[in-house]
Amino acid sequence: LLALAAWRRLRGPPKGGGRTPPRALPGPPALPLLGGAPHLLHPAAPRHLGALARRYGPALRLRLGGGDVVVLSSVETIREAFGRRWGACAGRPPSYLAGLVSRGGQDLALGDVSPGWRRQRRATRDALVRAQRCLDAILERQAQALCQDFRRYRGAPVDVAEDFAFRTCSTICSLIFGHLMPPEAEVRDFTRCIMELLELWGRASVRVLDLLPPLRVLPNPTLRELLRLVERRDAFVQAQLQRHEAAGCPPGGVLGELWPDPGVRGGPLGPDRLHMALVDLFIGGTETTAAALGWAIAFLLHRPEVAAGVRAQLAEEPGGRRGLLGATVSETLRLRPPAPLALPHRACTHTSIAGVPVPRNSLLIPNLFAAHHDPDKWHRPEDFLPERFLEEGPGRALVPFGCGARACLGEGLARAELLVFLGHILRNFRLEPPAPGVLPSLEVTAGTVLRCPPFRVRLIALEP
Ligand code: HEM
Repeated sequence: LLALAAWRRLRGPPKGGGRTPPRALPGPPALPLLGGAPHLLHPAAPRHLGALARRYGPALRLRLGGGDVVVLSSVETIREAFGRRWGACAGRPPSYLAGLVSRGGQDLALGDVSPGWRRQRRATRDALVRAQRCLDAILERQAQALCQDFRRYRGAPVDVAEDFAFRTCSTICSLIFGHLMPPEAEVRDFTRCIMELLELWGRASVRVLDLLPPLRVLPNPTLRELLRLVERRDAFVQAQLQRHEAAGCPPGGVLGELWPDPGVRGGPLGPDRLHMALVDLFIGGTETTAAALGWAIAFLLHRPEVAAGVRAQLAEEPGGRRGLLGATVSETLRLRPPAPLALPHRACTHTSIAGVPVPRNSLLIPNLFAAHHDPDKWHRPEDFLPERFLEEGPGRALVPFGCGARACLGEGLARAELLVFLGHILRNFRLEPPAPGVLPSLEVTAGTVLRCPPFRVRLIALEP
């Protein structure tokens, strides 16, 4: 082997002008002891990693604890890794934090590929699809209730973030539990629990425990608080499972589809996998969709003529989900993808991206935010221009739900929710800033879910 290597070095690059592909992806130098962790913990990580991509390329490498982290920042590299090479890139990295919050790795979203995970993903996906047969009725009910909540504010300036989270959480509750819905007060309390949990999960003081293991020995009040919220989350899910058991689990809903049936094979999932699948539907589907609704309202306050255009189109075609309404939803998901860095993946086998080798067990991070701001793909990438989606073309460059074997399970549900909720709001209310010229900040911050900085809006009820 040594002789072969020496001969190759003497021979030089291959004939025919071909370039030898580089042996590793480019990237910024690693800092002593910390490696690439400061880049990943940056307070505006999606933007910061996007700036690094402009310097080092759309597939760049950071070093972390002796391993590689590959950040993918263009739609091509993201589709190559998670679409074309889905089998090689579908793993999830082992995570100290995930182990603490997911009953020892029984989680759908954070769990690594295994036969148990495959069964869990397939069964949950199928149950969700079947439960969505009555989605239109559920969404109509929830959207009307949301407008009812808004009317009670009588046009006063309000922060609607919690209203959105409560309604998205109620929608999932309806889908999961069917006719056996928990009382409203319990759902409100659970919504707050999920919002706080996700906020703490996104904090650098918690995430650093996965990146720099020696810090785990130090006291960590944020982690303690997080684990307290995990207990509350689990108590809610367990209470609902017990109610269903006591009622003989009425058919319908995701839970009815997944319920253990001793007559058949004992049910599709064991108790921990069932519990964590339900948790993931709540966690995956509450804050993400609520954050997108918040951003849509913020952008529409900046461009009231778009809101007026959507209202005019809806007046002509009341149930219409395409046209400017659909374009507004797409543009919101482009500019502020609620999961800007998706979830980390793990290379299950040795693979390559953009022709450069990627070693097995590398961590892969899709930077959806950077891909959606790529100036080669998007004209005026920083501007809110829903009109661009009325023209032919840019749809394939949009990947807010990821792609491939780990793509979001709730894409159809989330899109339908965004269209119906936003459609109802714009048909029933005019959006006004709290005072003339006071517009929401559109700043991008860190966190697992990209939320709009808090802002207030006046919802002026329109005559029917
Ligand atoms: C995973 C985005 C709503 C359930 C994901 C991922 C993204 C994402 C980017 C990670 C993909 C990857 O790992 O490459 C979004 C956005 C939403 C949304 C932008 C709303 C606007 C929902 C809803 C549900 C849901 C409504 C369920 C009711 C899940 C689950 C996973 C996931 C279970 C884990 C999939 C897996 O690891 O195999 N989502 N999501 N999401 N999402 Fe969503």
